[in-house]
Amino acid sequence: MSALWTSDEVQRALSPIAMSAPFEANGVTFDSRAVADGDIFFALPGETTDGHAFVADALSRGAGVAVVSREMMGAADKLIRVRDTMKALVALGRAGRQRSEARIASITGSVGKTSTKDALRAILSAQAPTSASAASFNNHVGVPISLARLPRDARYGVFEIGMNHPGEIEPLARQVEAHVGVITNVEAAHIGHMGSEEAIADEKACLFAGMRPGAVAVLNRDNRHYDRLVHHAGAFGVAKIVGFGRHPAAEARLVACRLQDSGSDVQALIGSRRIEYRLGAAGEHWVLNSLAALAAADALGADLAQAATTLATVRALPGRGARRWLKFGSGKVELLDESYNANPASMRAMLAVLARTEPAPGGRRLLAMGDMRELGEHADALHAGLADAVAASGASQVFLCGPHMKALWHKLAAAQKGVHRPDSAALAGEVAGALRAGDVIAIKGSLGSRMKAVVDAVVAAADGETGQ
Ligand SMILES: Nc1ncnc2c1ncn2[C@@H]1O[C@H](COP(=O)(O)OP(=O)(O)O)[C@@H](O)[C@H]1O
Ligand SMILES: [Mg+2]
Repeated sequence: MSALWTSDEVQRALSPIAMSAPFEANGVTFDSRAVADGDIFFALPGETTDGHAFVADALSRGAGVAVVSREMMGAADKLIRVRDTMKALVALGRAGRQRSEARIASITGSVGKTSTKDALRAILSAQAPTSASAASFNNHVGVPISLARLPRDARYGVFEIGMNHPGEIEPLARQVEAHVGVITNVEAAHIGHMGSEEAIADEKACLFAGMRPGAVAVLNRDNRHYDRLVHHAGAFGVAKIVGFGRHPAAEARLVACRLQDSGSDVQALIGSRRIEYRLGAAGEHWVLNSLAALAAADALGADLAQAATTLATVRALPGRGARRWLKFGSGKVELLDESYNANPASMRAMLAVLARTEPAPGGRRLLAMGDMRELGEHADALHAGLADAVAASGASQVFLCGPHMKALWHKLAAAQKGVHRPDSAALAGEVAGALRAGDVIAIKGSLGSRMKAVVDAVVAAADGETGQ
């Protein structure tokens, strides 16, 4: 197989001030700790540290060349000097995109981007060579680096696009030039920076900028902003819409599903084709993610029946609903780890999953939640607004931490109240101490709320891990 990049191609894409010695590279990175042999290392400006400080480290760890914007000491044959390393990365990403004949999907949305991306990656890679963004590589660095990593022989590409602030999506969408654009949903996430849900919808719709002719928009038919998104898609010249959801007019329609702890059995109609499949990740939110992934796979030209089969292998990701079973005394504790991320929509999704998860005999449902971040002036109201979902979750004891969770704390039924603490470090021991054999414990909060500390305390209190 030919290399990801030759030095000739890189030189054409970057028009550097000074070029390195000839090379072939099979990887592109900006993190010196993640360098693999022969990689192209981009020294990017960072908020706290400048990548130029790590050039020597990257080269000593095996990077083939480094792209830099300063004169540097040492091996000139290993340096490519450009005016602006960030622009150079975007240029290489564009070159990767332009030479590719892959069918490309882009995915954005308030929640479920990475989950949907990974489901779509699983579906497509079972059918043909597929490349997808690593982890949540969805920002101004993650998108171009993912494009620069697109192998020349890929048949499918899947790229996650994220945003925290207005204006971030459009330039990234224009780099990706997708054939199919998926918006998982529009919810109150990052609303502190965005002002209103309508503003969030308008920003998400920039995903349709710069799509290829004949492009397809895959949209959540049940979302209250569906019409608004359809309108925007049209304005960007995207005429073909595939709606997914329960709505009777959805082109990818959920007909029925049976939700279980371990996953779901789903019946759906994709266009006029009826499909039934097993989905390996639990929760109704996952059923909807799977429909979006199927609709996107279908629009990309993949085989639908085979796609449905692949969904049985899909699992919730670590920290995003992945389950673990811990040995506790004479029995087990089931841990639902959602410590990676939280906003009102994903909190509700998790609470619905908890409600359906049966504790073992003698066990209870316990719940530990930390603040949802970036909700701005709406934060307290959005936290307090979870009270109905918490009541419906069947949790017998609720442990909360963080200043905004105080607003929810006041709304809890007295019988459900465990404790409220200022932060997760103070909460962790309380939660671990409350557990007993048979319990189910769900733990969730924004990454910044560090609910991982609670997960770690619970795991430490157990006598090791076990199977289901
Ligand atoms: N469609 C959905 N609706 C609500 N919550 C979801 C959905 N899909 C995933 N989640 C939950 O949201 C959290 C973040 O999921 P992830 O796929 O990483 O989203 P993103 O990439 O958009 O941040 C996880 O806890 C996950 O279980
Ligand atoms: Mg993500």
